[in-house]
Amino acid sequence: MKKMTSNESFQSVVQRALASPSRRTVLRGGLGLGLLGFVPETLQSAFATSVTSSASSAGVMTNAESQLGFKAVGKSLLDDVQLPPGYRYTILHATGDPLKSGVSAYSNEGAEVDDWTGRVGDHHDGMEIFYLDAKGRYSDVPTDRAVLCVNHESSADAHFLHPRGQTSSGMQGKKFTQFGDWDLGHRPETEVVKEMNLHGVSVVELVQDGRGWKYLVDAPLNRRITPETPMLFGGSADQLPHINTLMKTAFDPSGRSSRGTLNNCGHGKTPWGTYLTCEENWAKYFQISANSSPLGPKQVAGLKRYGVASQPLNKELKKAFSQGWHTVSAQDNRFARWNLAWLESEPEGDFRQEANTFGFNVEIDPLEPTSVAVKRVSMGRFAHEAAVCGTPVAGEPLAFYMGCDSVNEYIYKYVSEAKWDPSDVGGGIRAGDKYLNEGRLYAARFNADGTGDWLELNIQDPKIRGFEAFRFANQADVLVHARFAADAVGATRMDRPEWGAVNPRNGDVYFALTNNSAANRTPAKVNASNPRAYNDTDGKKRSGNPHGHIVRFRDQGLRSGAQTFNWDIFLFGAEEDDPRSNLSGLTAANSFSSPDGLWFSRATGICWIQTDDGAMTDETNCMMLAAIPGALGDGGKMTVSNVMQVGGEIQEGVQETFVGAALGEARLRRFLVAPKGAEVTGVTESADGKILFVNIQHPGEKTPALGTSERYALESAWPGNQGYGQPGRPRSATIMIQREDGGVIGL
Ligand code: FEO
Ligand code: CA
Ligand code: CA
Repeated sequence: MKKMTSNESFQSVVQRALASPSRRTVLRGGLGLGLLGFVPETLQSAFATSVTSSASSAGVMTNAESQLGFKAVGKSLLDDVQLPPGYRYTILHATGDPLKSGVSAYSNEGAEVDDWTGRVGDHHDGMEIFYLDAKGRYSDVPTDRAVLCVNHESSADAHFLHPRGQTSSGMQGKKFTQFGDWDLGHRPETEVVKEMNLHGVSVVELVQDGRGWKYLVDAPLNRRITPETPMLFGGSADQLPHINTLMKTAFDPSGRSSRGTLNNCGHGKTPWGTYLTCEENWAKYFQISANSSPLGPKQVAGLKRYGVASQPLNKELKKAFSQGWHTVSAQDNRFARWNLAWLESEPEGDFRQEANTFGFNVEIDPLEPTSVAVKRVSMGRFAHEAAVCGTPVAGEPLAFYMGCDSVNEYIYKYVSEAKWDPSDVGGGIRAGDKYLNEGRLYAARFNADGTGDWLELNIQDPKIRGFEAFRFANQADVLVHARFAADAVGATRMDRPEWGAVNPRNGDVYFALTNNSAANRTPAKVNASNPRAYNDTDGKKRSGNPHGHIVRFRDQGLRSGAQTFNWDIFLFGAEEDDPRSNLSGLTAANSFSSPDGLWFSRATGICWIQTDDGAMTDETNCMMLAAIPGALGDGGKMTVSNVMQVGGEIQEGVQETFVGAALGEARLRRFLVAPKGAEVTGVTESADGKILFVNIQHPGEKTPALGTSERYALESAWPGNQGYGQPGRPRSATIMIQREDGGVIGL
């Protein structure tokens, strides 16, 4: 379906573009792009014959929920959470809040040198609420006692956590330092231990306090899971020995266990009541020392494919970063583990395989504080975003949908071998062993005709067995290097798959595709499910697909084990004043860029969309929108006319795609705008839909690190500027949103 607009030479396309007054405007980066707009066909077209037939009436919303019931929030650059009239928020917990008595109140000056396993972590991300019955067991029905699991993704703003920023000379004055082959002693131990332990997951007990919920200090289920917490590997019986071979390190020469979890971004909740936390940008945390024995070529290929900082092996990886955690000590394994290239004679004597131990969905039983978390290798290893379960059907396998968030990466599906048995609810990690070890892993191919195929990643496939770029030894190798396997079978490279979400009312699966760069999306490099290539006309003026889109699909017959699906594009992110990229008819009330978090309310059916944006932030901070979705196939065909300045040239192309019905302001509205520099990520609700929990991550992200001066010039001072905790530096936090009249959120 992809083609250039004509057979004329590329040069003549450029000449023609230059001859057009409007196109000259493009070359100057100005506005006036109306003539270059998309060419929409009717939104109720022949698409219905090919796709709508699979869309059952189950997808039709009831009239009572067909309209949103709040006034849209305008774009905002203010340093506070903006909500519609009649709504308010309170803070549940923020970075550094104590989980135990005896832990000091958070100074917000970086003074804490105590154990951060007694504090809420930083960079709040995906989260989920779990209810407890009177005996403290998992409850499928809501109660007044609960546990909240929150991911703590990153230490990207770790300079806020130290008294005067990161003290090592190479990192002072910078948020991240470009990879270098640093000497031992480059980072001080006290800072590194703090940075490690602010990662991971917090598990906190909540009680209702009449106005909402509050968390309990010293509650028996309070728990911090960090990069130091021991965990096990789970896999199918026949592959587990091979998995263990790939995981051997000096920490556990048997390869059965490893230490900790990193960069926990999206999440999932299993039907039996455990938490899945997803390891995303772990690849940035490793160093490969230049002065070391060489790693083998196959391992180097694997490290490169996953973007592990790998100079001098991979000098072209200019964006590779390391935290420098390894520089504390080459002898103490807590630190030496972050350098893959201090080699002994055997893998079990060093940490060359340490990077193999990250990139998984990690299953945690939040209600069993002594249970050991398990890395579910059968669900594949990549930059995991969310892991969302399809609607469980008794007697059918379970399907989990997963994204890999890097440019041009894939959407995956895991299908359990075991059939769902509702009596497993409350079964904890043992139920996880039943469903998440034996199963099949697939990658998605989105075809140009609106259909899709789930391509199994199986060593028996000749395309995988014979893949030249990476010689898989066995199925464990396929799972641990799933990106290569998906390359081999020809899955569709997407615009950075972020969170997925399943519409509980009709089974449609949604995925946020946050954005893609100019190098990867040009008019010649689009495809039907990633159909746009354009220049952002103001602000950062990024090119490619800087605003992202949301794709949705439905497995054939709504069967979890289906090998095929149908898809369309639910929404295109855009600024409302750029007609070329604004293909979903967005207005000032619902324009957005770079969708990231995605989640459906069970109480209201609202699809909540959260952004982590850098393209529209010249006119608004990141945001959360409410959408009332229809169903797959409720729209039609669209022909996208792409025009993009690439270098000094104009490129053009036409791409056909399928889009959902236009939502309009009645069904898509901005609900929340975040404080300065924050992304909005992570959302869950009380079962009655009257309290929405939302995470505000990294306010003040652009604040330069403290350099030689004594004070920060803070980009954000939230939430201290709203009276929460000590004023001063910005902190990530979980907020609770309520309606002042006590009603359900959003309707
Ligand atoms: Fe952690 Fe891809 O967002
Ligand atoms: Ca812009
Ligand atoms: Ca604009």
